[in-house]
Amino acid sequence: MALLNIENLSKAFGALTAVNGVTLEVQPGSLYSIIGPNGAGKTTLFNLLTGQLPPTSGRIVFDGQDITGTPAHRIAHLGIARSFQRTNLFPALSLLDNVWVAAFARGRSWRGLAWRRTDRFHEVTERALAALGDVGLSEKAHQLARQISHGEQRQLELALALAAAPRLLLLDEPAAGLSPDETQKMVALVRGLKGRYTIVLIEHKMDIIMGVSDRIAVMHFGSVIAEGTPAEIQRNAEVRRAYLGGMAAG
Ligand SMILES: Nc1ncnc2c1ncn2[C@@H]1O[C@H](COP(=O)(O)OP(=O)(O)OP(=O)(O)O)[C@@H](O)[C@H]1O
Ligand SMILES: [Mg+2]
Repeated sequence: MALLNIENLSKAFGALTAVNGVTLEVQPGSLYSIIGPNGAGKTTLFNLLTGQLPPTSGRIVFDGQDITGTPAHRIAHLGIARSFQRTNLFPALSLLDNVWVAAFARGRSWRGLAWRRTDRFHEVTERALAALGDVGLSEKAHQLARQISHGEQRQLELALALAAAPRLLLLDEPAAGLSPDETQKMVALVRGLKGRYTIVLIEHKMDIIMGVSDRIAVMHFGSVIAEGTPAEIQRNAEVRRAYLGGMAAG
């Protein structure tokens, strides 16, 4: 059974249909990529999946449960975590504290915390440290988020999402704005997470997408115009016209 089923999902902003009848399914443990030109509706699709925005129509089924219209904090507790296209950190907090907050806030329900023993804090710290380790930032745990490089900040963003112990990880352009070296590092990180998490990845850089994805959906003006394995997508004439050709220079 698929972990995520998106069924005929649409989102309109006034006259603009940013997501238009999208249907796709993501198998557990797979890495599913979504590509498409600027404004294609990729981030909006994530906003629908995480409950940041309610869909205009259609259904989202997560692990067999209809989560359409469920508020964001409930969806986070169900195990869907995302990293953002733009960084979303507390610059004056240490790396560990940034991740700790994410681990604490998303890990379990806040209710009942008052009478929980402080063991809980130890467990959260362990989870935060493990997430920092997963992104290769253990040694910088006590530095401030504003002191590390841009590339490391993106890695830290990924750690925030991992700290929530997600069952589905949504990554929105994790390599955006990174140098070639930093991009290589991020690709290695995402590759390392593959199989351990079910991942949906939005990315513009074709070399990344083709190398790591199990399946790819191509969005164009809100619709999925092609879906398949990387090889199938590369061969698809419509995709080449709509997207790959235009991206060749970039
Ligand atoms: N909250 C909103 N209100 C109105 N229009 C929006 C809103 N969010 C997105 N849009 C519009 O919806 C369309 C899709 O935007 P979206 O951010 O999903 O694209 P994208 O595929 O993520 O693009 P990019 O590659 O540039 O990140 C765009 O035309 C955008 O301007
Ligand atoms: Mg986007």
